[in-house]
This record gives sequence, C-alpha cells and structure tokens, in this order.
Amino acid sequence: MDPNTSGLVQKLAEAGQSHLLQFWKELSTKEQQELFQDLQGMDFLEINGFFKSSMETSSSTKHEKMDGRMEPVPREVLGSVTRDRESLKDWEAKGLDCIGQSKVAVLLLAGGQGTRLGFSHPKGMYDVGLPSHKTLFQIQAERILKLQQLAKQKTTVNCCVPWYIMTSGRTMESTKNFFSEHKYFGLDKDNVIFFQQGMLPAMDYNGKIILESQGKLSMAPDGNGGLYRALGNQGILDDMQRRGVKFIHVYCVDNILVKVADPTFIGFCVQKGADCGAKVVEKTNPTEAVGVVCKVDGRYQVVEYSEITLATAEKRSSDGRLMFNAGNVANHFFSFSFLRDVVQKYEPQLQHHVAQKKIPFVDVQGHIITPEKPNGIKMEKFVFDIFQFAKTFVVYEVLREDEFSPLKNADAQDGKDTPTTARHALMSLHHRWVLNAGGHFIDENGRRMPAIPSLKDGTDLPIKCEISPLVSYAGEGLEKLVKGRELQATLMIDEHGVHELVKNGV
Ligand code: UD1
Repeated sequence: MDPNTSGLVQKLAEAGQSHLLQFWKELSTKEQQELFQDLQGMDFLEINGFFKSSMETSSSTKHEKMDGRMEPVPREVLGSVTRDRESLKDWEAKGLDCIGQSKVAVLLLAGGQGTRLGFSHPKGMYDVGLPSHKTLFQIQAERILKLQQLAKQKTTVNCCVPWYIMTSGRTMESTKNFFSEHKYFGLDKDNVIFFQQGMLPAMDYNGKIILESQGKLSMAPDGNGGLYRALGNQGILDDMQRRGVKFIHVYCVDNILVKVADPTFIGFCVQKGADCGAKVVEKTNPTEAVGVVCKVDGRYQVVEYSEITLATAEKRSSDGRLMFNAGNVANHFFSFSFLRDVVQKYEPQLQHHVAQKKIPFVDVQGHIITPEKPNGIKMEKFVFDIFQFAKTFVVYEVLREDEFSPLKNADAQDGKDTPTTARHALMSLHHRWVLNAGGHFIDENGRRMPAIPSLKDGTDLPIKCEISPLVSYAGEGLEKLVKGRELQATLMIDEHGVHELVKNGV
C-alpha cells in the first residue's frame, strides 16, 4: 500500500489531482488503507473528462436559448385519463395481460440522499404517519402483491413482477437490512433485486476533487441517470433478459400515490407500440417546481423548472392552459429492447448536469470548512435524458390528486411536499374511493359528513381513512365492504376487514 511504488502518485500527478495525498503522512494506517483503496478504484482521466464536458455544456445552455427551442408535446402522442375515457378499460386489460405473462418489471430509483427531508435513513423507510404507520417501501411492496393477484384473476396463472431497487453506496446496506427484517413485505425474496449505482466526487471550479476530511474524498451518487451504467455493470439487464421481462416501469421512491406497474399506463404504452413513455400531470402553476416534458430542437426531453424563464413558464395556449403543462412525475415506461440499446449504445453520450453546491472541505491546514456560498459542483445524469433516443415516444396524463404527491421536504407550516401533504393526499384519495363505492362517513353524533370537507368549521383536514393496497390497488373491489354502510373515522380497511378505530376505542 505504498502510493509511490503502486503507481498511484504518478496516476494522480498525470490527472492533476496530487493534492488528494497532501495529508497522507498525518493519516492513521487504517485511514491510509481506506484512502488508498478509494483512489485505486477511480478512473481520474474519465472523471476529469466528465468535469470538462459538463462544465462546457452547462455554460452553453443559457435559458434564453432553451426557451426558443421548446415545443409542447403534440396531441397525437398524448393519452389522458380524462380525455380518453373510452380507451382506459382496453389499456388496463392489455397491461394486466402483460403483467399476467410476467413480462413487466418495476424499477425503483432509490439512490438519492434525501437531503431536503432531513431523514438519515433511505427515504423509502419513512413513515408519514398513516394510521397503519406503513413506510413508503411497504406501500409499494403491497401494491406489487395486489397487482400480481389481480393479474392472476384475469389470466388464471401465477405471475411475478420482479422489483429492481437501485440504491447507492450510502443506502445499500440499510435498504437491504430493512427488507430482510420485514421479510420482503410478503414478496418472494428472489424477486426483489438490489443493485448499486455509481458515485462521483465533488469538484471545485478548477476541476480539483474536493477532500471532505484529510483522508476522505467528497463523494455523491451520480444522479438517477446513473441507472443506465449500473444496469449494465451490475448484471441487471442480463437478469431481466433471463426472466423474459419485456416492459419496465421506472419510478421514484418519494411519491406516496405511485401506481407501481400501473396496468393502464403500461397497456397504453404497449398498444401505442412505444419504446419509451412518460407519465405526467397537468402543471397549472407556472412557478411549480416540476420539470416539463416537451420537445427541444424536435427531440423529446424534460426541461427542469430551473432551465426556463418565467415568461416561457407562463405562456398559455388558446385553450387557456399553460403551453408547457406536461409536468414530469418521474414515472417512465421503457421496452426492454430500448433499455438494452440505451445501456449498450447511448449511455456514453449522456452529459452530466452540473449542480453548484456548498460542499464542506478541508483547507490546507487540515481544518474542515463549511462554506457559505457554493464552492464547487456535483455531477449528475438524469433518468429522462434518454427520451431523445426513443423511436416511438408517448406521454400519458393522469390526475394529480389520484397519482402524485411526492415527499421532498420536512414538515413546516404550509409546507409543500411534506409528510403531512403526503399523508393527507393518500387519505383523501381513499376517502373518495369509499364514497365512490357507496360508503358514507358519519361524525361522532351519527351525522353524515359532507363529501367535501369545509374550511369554515375547521374540518378541512381529510377524513382519516386508509385502505391497504392488499385490499384495493386503485379503488376496485370495495363495494362489498362499504356499500350502504355508515362509517366512522378513523377508518382502516385491510386484509382482515373494516375497522373503525374510534368507535372501538382504539
Ligand atoms: C424529480 C425529477 C423532476 C420531477 C420530480 C417530481 C429527475 C432528475 N427530476 O426531481 O423532473 O418533476 O422528480 O417529483 O428525475 N435518485 C437516485 N440517484 C441519485 C439521485 C436521485 O436514485 O443519484 C432518485 C431519488 O432517490 C428519487 C428520485 O431519483 O427517488 C428523484 O430524485 P430527486 O432528487 O428527489 O428529484 P427531484 O429534483 O425532486
């Protein structure tokens, strides 16, 4: 482990990164071993190349330029749950057929650091405070279980929806342990496959890798588009091929309403012969922080909210809606063959995006400094940057209140995308499911509660109502449980029956 004899010193000098060994003599033997191992495993010339090209791209993509090159998604590639009602049943049936034939896999992007939420574990382990206290991982696992059942009812054969979970160096072990402690939430262990995305060092504006302490580089996951490289080098594509997977639903961990392997979305994409598809919700507020799906220079892409001017974000079409209103909810469909082409051919063409950050670093005296303004960059690829390579790209618009409530931030008064908003979104959806299935809610005096809670009497909080995914995937099958019944909150419906927790003094 001598940096000189092993050639490490020379490798670092050639890459202009010799400063990484500046505290070598002050490190303990253990610290030296760890740093040596980290450095030996890195390809500095490649990293320097990433730095150079991402800085060039980021300085050349000025907002004004982007705005002029954008076009909205044309109607002919758009499917919508509200405007194409007559097709929904067909699409759903098609999707369930594919699931029933074990051709569909789901892939969860869970390698992020969740810094905004301020939770020190992987985000999927978060409990937003539902009556059941289920975590995001458990809710998603149970939706997969239910879907397997629904597909079996249709096709009468057993099927399996493999669940691929991408983690990062930081989240792998705790994620795996959590699943194992919870017995994979009832799923077959062999069908839950973990894999790890890559990490990249943070760099200062001169392309020097930042040390976060004397013996440790500042490292971060390489963005959710790190998926494609990981799919290849972790053997995941091969696993998919071996299982006969034909279609993949990729989604983010933080959306409590996510319809994992949504049969209607999958059926729509398959019927349209798409190799790539994106689920969107209508963006109604110009300043909402979601990316929009659109065309740039004739090619499909997501333009992040930070990349356009307010004037473009505010543009409206003749029908009064925002012109760029296809809000990306980070739910994507890929055919297996498209994904394989991306991994094998297109991935190296994807550019890293640059995020300027305040990155703690160690100064020449060896003190750790937390800067007050950005002092360097993190480089990330984005999952949707491959839309441009699709031959047939489609967009599927769904209702926000049914399908999108992401958990991004910690609770704060009037906060957006918090545990409270996520919990309320789920309970309010399940409340509507009960009403639509013919159930009624009554208060403690036996009076019927209004379907739309009113602000006036302070009851604008959603009725506490939670339905286990093991009972219903999307509101189906509830009539036999609630039709004509008067129910009192807190209401929980699970595989053991209907429980009114207050009435029973729980
Ligand atoms: C993301 C979308 C944005 C969309 C929004 C909706 C991207 C790049 N942006 O933004 O267009 O409007 O969701 O909620 O997809 N992740 C990894 N590895 C990483 C980084 C992130 O797996 O290195 C995962 C996270 O665990 C999470 C997902 O990617 O599941 C989204 O990451 P996040 O940073 O929260 O994206 P947003 O900026 O919210």
